[in-house]
Amino acid sequence: MKGVVFNVLEEMVIEQCGMLAWNEILEAQEIEGIYTAGESYPDEELFGLVGSISAKTEIPAETLVGAFGERLFKGLSERNPVFIEAESTLKGFLKSVHDVIHIEVRKLYENPNLPDFEYEEDADNTLLMRYRSPRKLCILAEGLIRGAAYHYDTAIEIEHPVCMHKGADHCDLIVRFL
Ligand code: HEM
Repeated sequence: MKGVVFNVLEEMVIEQCGMLAWNEILEAQEIEGIYTAGESYPDEELFGLVGSISAKTEIPAETLVGAFGERLFKGLSERNPVFIEAESTLKGFLKSVHDVIHIEVRKLYENPNLPDFEYEEDADNTLLMRYRSPRKLCILAEGLIRGAAYHYDTAIEIEHPVCMHKGADHCDLIVRFL
């Protein structure tokens, strides 16, 4: 996972729990915790940090990953405002993630690990985002989508009827625009 993801996690913990808590979390994992945005670090290190934050705050890891996704959207979009400015609606933005934004991410960062999204649009105001990734970070994806919905001031519901964590080979994230 790229250092930028760790940078945003650090920002979130410091905002919510303070610098002391972040230092204690790093100590619990016995890591230095200095992350360069464009460098890659082991996914296990991120999952370990999430585990320590969960233990310290007593927030279930899944809830934490979802909340982190929302905060990650803010962190990534602040660092790359051009992607948000290019789209005026949430639906347009979500449809640009796979074919525009993550393509640009491949030019900005060396060998990023990105998921695969396929889209299906329904007449009844829903957008299906079919997620595939060996990292199975569908809950993070849900959080990122909620973060984007907040930014575009658009009310949504997300259904997640098919999930890689329940043995499927992909996740279906159905975004309903209310
Ligand atoms: C709703 C919008 C977005 C969704 C649903 C989304 C989805 C994801 C997910 C789920 C991951 C984790 C990796 C995986 O699952 O395999 C990821 C990684 C990433 N995304 Fe996106 N993304 C969104 C917007 C953005 C934006 C606006 C940027 C801006 C640059 C961005 C840049 C990145 C980067 C840098 C990574 C980390 C790659 C790595 O660690 O190697 N994403 N994205």
